[in-house]
This record gives sequence, C-alpha cells and structure tokens, in this order.
Amino acid sequence: MENEVKEKREQLISWLNDAYAMETDITRNLEGQMQQTEDTPEVHDKIQEHLEQTKSQAERVKACIQDLGGNISAIKSGLANMMGAAKGASTAMAEDKLIKNAIADYATEYFEIASYTALIDAAEELGEKKVAEVCRVIRNEEQEMAKWIEKQLPTAVHQFMSTSRG
Ligand SMILES: [Fe+2]
Repeated sequence: MENEVKEKREQLISWLNDAYAMETDITRNLEGQMQQTEDTPEVHDKIQEHLEQTKSQAERVKACIQDLGGNISAIKSGLANMMGAAKGASTAMAEDKLIKNAIADYATEYFEIASYTALIDAAEELGEKKVAEVCRVIRNEEQEMAKWIEKQLPTAVHQFMSTSRG
C-alpha cells in the first residue's frame, strides 16, 4: 500500500515534469514569435504578456515538483515532443506566419488545458491540494489566452485576406 502511494506520487512528479518541459518549450517558441510580431503591436504585447506568464508557470510547476520531493528532469518528455508540430509552424518565415502562429498557439493552449486538467485530477486523487490549486490557476490563465486567440483569429485572417500582395 505504501509502495503504491509512492509510485503514484512519482507518476504525478513525472507528469509535472512533462508540464515543466512543455512550458520551457513554449517559452522558447514565444521568444521567437516576439521578433515576428514587431509590425503588429497588439499581438506583440499579448505575446510578451503570455511569455512572462509562461515563464512564471514554469517556475510554479517547478516549485510543485520540489515540494513533492522530486527533481527537475532534463529528459525531453513525450508531451514536449508532441508540441513539435506547433513549434515548427511558428519558425517558418512565411507571409502568413501570423495566421500559422495563431493556429499553432491556439492548439498549444488546448494541449496545455488538457495537461493541467489531468494534473488537477491526479493531484486531487493523491490529496495534494496545493499542487491541484497551482494547476487550476495555471489552467485558468491558459483558458484566458485561448479565448483571446479565438477572438483574434478571425480578425487576423480577415486582415490577411483583404491585404493585396505582389
Ligand atoms: Fe502555459
């Protein structure tokens, strides 16, 4: 029984490490997008705000891992690798990069929401209320960002379609 609890705590730590790797990946991705959005101040400001938020999320997740007595794992998680597709789109210097970034970022937010939803449930099952609460606050932040992108995307597409090129 005691072993079983220990194993489950280790599983939670491992999933938190996935989330930590995910946030670290997203930080790098958003840093790239900062340079690509210099012509669109509104998007640029929001990316900057979300970049700061993402760095803070990584720190908060790291603190949860340490509170549980775990270590930060340097091993690339399967989850972080799954984010690769979204990351690839944002580095392409295509004319429609803002749209591609928005689509990738939108998908990323929902990936994060799903990850934190699983973490909240796992933490609650183990009675780790503090971890569950941290994950709930982060999930709210991701949901707000997803809403902002959802609102922004049609405008960005409209602007792109109505601008003449070539
Ligand atoms: Fe995040």
